[in-house]
Amino acid sequence: MNPIVETLPDKPALIDRGLAIAVDQIQQAIADHGYCTLALAGGSTPKPLYAGLAKANLPWSQLYIFWGDERYVPVEHPDSNAGMAKQAWLDHVPIPTEQIFIPPTHHPDPAISAQAYQTTIQRLFDSLQKAPTAIPQFDLIFLGMGADGHTASLFPHTPALAVHDQLVTVGMKDGAPRLTFTVPLINHSRQVLFLVAGADKQAALEQVFAADGDEQTYPSRLIQPQGELRWLLDAQAAHGLALPV
Ligand code: 6PG
Repeated sequence: MNPIVETLPDKPALIDRGLAIAVDQIQQAIADHGYCTLALAGGSTPKPLYAGLAKANLPWSQLYIFWGDERYVPVEHPDSNAGMAKQAWLDHVPIPTEQIFIPPTHHPDPAISAQAYQTTIQRLFDSLQKAPTAIPQFDLIFLGMGADGHTASLFPHTPALAVHDQLVTVGMKDGAPRLTFTVPLINHSRQVLFLVAGADKQAALEQVFAADGDEQTYPSRLIQPQGELRWLLDAQAAHGLALPV
């Protein structure tokens, strides 16, 4: 399916649009199959969107929350993606705690934690999906993109890009481990929503949308979900791009 690309005038408008899409997608998923499985992005861009979700009126008991990637720090650490989403949103709404799946980051070996998170994902989807699929199908995965073209913790020229037989693996950023969804897990999602803002993202976006960009150098090119792929860009990030029509 070709990506849907929306350019918004500025970051607040991008966040407002992303919030509207998220609320709509959550409501559609619940209407369709009685629950919504979400995987959250980290970084800074999505934080105001999560704050907007804290004010939304949603059937919170039917949401299941995961993270598409996590830095290998405790949830209390200022770099924690889970800590950011809890502070902005999840600590302010009555989603049952047992339906919020914070990636484990305490085991000395991150690979053990990646396997544990994968098992958690598989067990939840086996319990939810009437016809469990080999690769779980999230209803909505939020993604950001770094200025280097990475997404989740799938960084350029790292082994994580080639992991196709796992759902979760260990990503590496400058030698520091992170947990990350793999490309196959992300690409099985019903909807992937990229939120990309700022002039520093423009060069990587050009390569991501180019006809012949390199996937190893710009890993966001690897995100080709079977479901809907939607990019929300602000005008700064989208400046000068020849976008798919
Ligand atoms: C993380 C994110 C990462 C992020 C991008 C963009 O753990 O940092 O998951 O993939 O989405 O780096 O980050 P910004 O939104 O802060 O630009």
